[in-house]
Amino acid sequence: MTSPVPAVLTAVAARWDGPVAAAVDASPELTIARRCADLADLLATAASGTGRVAVVSGQLRGLTLSSVATLRESGVEVVGLADPDDDQDERRLWQLGVHSVVLADAASDVLVAALLAAASHGSLSGADSRSLTGASLGWVPQLFAEGATPHAAEPTRESASAVPGREVPGRVIVVWGPNGAPGRTAVAVNLAVELAMLDRHVVLVDADTYGGCVAQTLALLDEAPGVAAAARSADQGALDVALLSRLLLEVRPGLRVLTGIPKADRWPEVRGAALERVLQVCRAVADDVVVDVGFSLEDDEELSYDTQAPRRNQATLTALQSADAAVVVGGCDPISLQRLVRGLQELGTVRAPEPMVVVNRLRSGPIGSPPARLVADALARFAGVTDLHTVPDDPAAFDAAMLAGRALAEVAPHSPARRSIAQLAVRLDQLAPIEGSLRRTGAARPGAGGGGRRHTRRWGRTRG
Ligand SMILES: Nc1ncnc2c1ncn2[C@@H]1O[C@H](COP(=O)(O)OP(=O)(O)OP(=O)(O)O)[C@@H](O)[C@H]1O
Ligand SMILES: [Mg+2]
Repeated sequence: MTSPVPAVLTAVAARWDGPVAAAVDASPELTIARRCADLADLLATAASGTGRVAVVSGQLRGLTLSSVATLRESGVEVVGLADPDDDQDERRLWQLGVHSVVLADAASDVLVAALLAAASHGSLSGADSRSLTGASLGWVPQLFAEGATPHAAEPTRESASAVPGREVPGRVIVVWGPNGAPGRTAVAVNLAVELAMLDRHVVLVDADTYGGCVAQTLALLDEAPGVAAAARSADQGALDVALLSRLLLEVRPGLRVLTGIPKADRWPEVRGAALERVLQVCRAVADDVVVDVGFSLEDDEELSYDTQAPRRNQATLTALQSADAAVVVGGCDPISLQRLVRGLQELGTVRAPEPMVVVNRLRSGPIGSPPARLVADALARFAGVTDLHTVPDDPAAFDAAMLAGRALAEVAPHSPARRSIAQLAVRLDQLAPIEGSLRRTGAARPGAGGGGRRHTRRWGRTRG
């Protein structure tokens, strides 16, 4: 249970250590749990269950987005202490995902108020959190977009994760599917192209930590820095719109690609917390962010003794958790259908939007005729799927696309598979725009809560 008087951990520059401790000590509403020597000490103390809120210096050696996320997973919220003489310090702290930032020379009651608000962060209602304005608490939010005006926004959970420059942040559409290469990448790539052809600005992100192949599919340089570089910058609190834009490769008007890791063994470079920030910044530059992810939903934290070690499937879980829509791709033969049924059950145990199920490579060969009805009946019976989209088996079109390194729309515009994926894009285009209040980015914690699908965004909603 949370202590009635929140316990504070500190890890701040020597210059501010005394004043911070004195401010906390003087407050009857807070107590000091430990003055940590460094980040390792802070992480270990938090992992032991000590502390409810931490105050950290922006220059704390080794502090990254991932370490802030780790602290949060240990139940410790983080308040940043920015050096008033360093303009970049405060900006970086915001970009590391801290709950709030206080200038180190602010009055002690400002720090205490920020610590108390952070300590009750999890229990704040939306209205309460909105009332915590920058003005009333002396917080100075710095959003991550290049050129964002300091002091312009209030540090509510929503506004801190939104980006200036767009009225509505773009949507994240994750394309997931079970193992057995059912066609996740094929659907993701062509869906992204079709959405771009509907005049939407699209960013396609290859976040498959088992070895993405979006770059090869579109004949792009697979040595491009891509998602690994974006995640690294995000982890260091340096990713903004300008930097992301330099990492995106434009493949056609309206479509830019963040390529994946060129070798599967580089998966530790795409950490969950960093990818969450990458997707957040992508929302700032696109109407739709289409994400190709790996197949596994296993929570590798449970398989590891070291809970701070990178987790391979965290990228997939984080993408699904951040998503506004999930397209679930399965194959049509009996083995693939069984995997799809199990995959949908598994998906129901993690945090993800209501899935839109796509059966790919539909054909009668492995299941009999008529395949569409047989597949629909099987999925209705075993997975309760009532709204199914199918993509026909179309090797001629896909082979031609692969040979040319282009999308179906470009090399086989009249092919059955292309027509089907174009219809899928139209359905997605007609979904209501994402409202800030419905988005979960920022409020969600990796692993929090677990079980059950709590997000029931429905397919087929029309733009409101
Ligand atoms: N509808 C289709 N008709 C014919 N071939 C298809 C179809 N969809 C995908 N393919 C082909 O199937 C192969 C596997 O597709 P893809 O790489 O998209 O699968 P994946 O699920 O992303 O696999 P991985 O697990 O390797 O990421 C590719 O050669 C692709 O061209
Ligand atoms: Mg793939």
